[in-house]
Amino acid sequence: MSNVSPVGIFDSGIGGLTVVKKISSILPSENIVYFGDTARVPYGTKSNDTVIEYALQDAAYLLTHHVKLIIVACNTASSVALPALRERFDVPVIGMIEPGAKLAVEKSKNGKIGVIGTNATVNNKAYSTELLKYDTRLEIFEKACPLFVPLAEEGWIDHKATKLIADEYLHGLKEHEIDTLILGCTHYPILSGVIQSSVGNNVELIDSGVAASLVVKNYLEKENLLNPQTGNGKIDFYVSDLSSKFKEIAGRFLGKPVDEIKKVDVDELVKLI
Ligand code: DGL
Repeated sequence: MSNVSPVGIFDSGIGGLTVVKKISSILPSENIVYFGDTARVPYGTKSNDTVIEYALQDAAYLLTHHVKLIIVACNTASSVALPALRERFDVPVIGMIEPGAKLAVEKSKNGKIGVIGTNATVNNKAYSTELLKYDTRLEIFEKACPLFVPLAEEGWIDHKATKLIADEYLHGLKEHEIDTLILGCTHYPILSGVIQSSVGNNVELIDSGVAASLVVKNYLEKENLLNPQTGNGKIDFYVSDLSSKFKEIAGRFLGKPVDEIKKVDVDELVKLI
């Protein structure tokens, strides 16, 4: 492992591509290895034990590519598996919750913060716990929005059904007069246009992936681990189930066609741990 080693990013599916996009824009020289566990998505409806098991396998897979750092671009996995990942592996592991919560505290003026995420993230109170470390007077309103994941996976970014569902999920948060809303699921930034129009322009949306990307940048700078190459780094994509949809959506997220995506068998992942 050295400064030319790639950065490893994993998610349960396609949502983590929003983090890939951010990392490759702020750290263009970095090589990236992305793994999306598309065969076993969603994680947000599974038990903590299962998510921990999958997250350990995903991270172990990235380590077969000798990554210098692992970004858990999945809020569900970040909310339940971070301690297990940090205990098991020697490389630094950066999750979504701590950076997202910190940024939300910095941005909120009225101390009323909304959090949306999967059932697992909301039930585990991952963001509330982290937010309250900063200030116990914060008022936090959490809401699970599980249907956002299939809508994002389906590419229904600008669809009237998505707007209807967003209004239904989010009207309660609006009534609480939140001024900041954490998009506590890697898939949600894909739907940020619809989410913003549901909560109104007075609410600032916090993309935890953006916050986490800045943490990664600071870490690599501080540890002298930035890739010194001058050109753009390469991105290698791996998924556990390869549908034509992934290629199409990956291209859309990244703003450029994705030529090659390789499939990794779940049987191989399971053998790693
Ligand atoms: N990636 C997950 C997250 O950020 C959402 C999709 C899933 O449920 O697996 O929480």
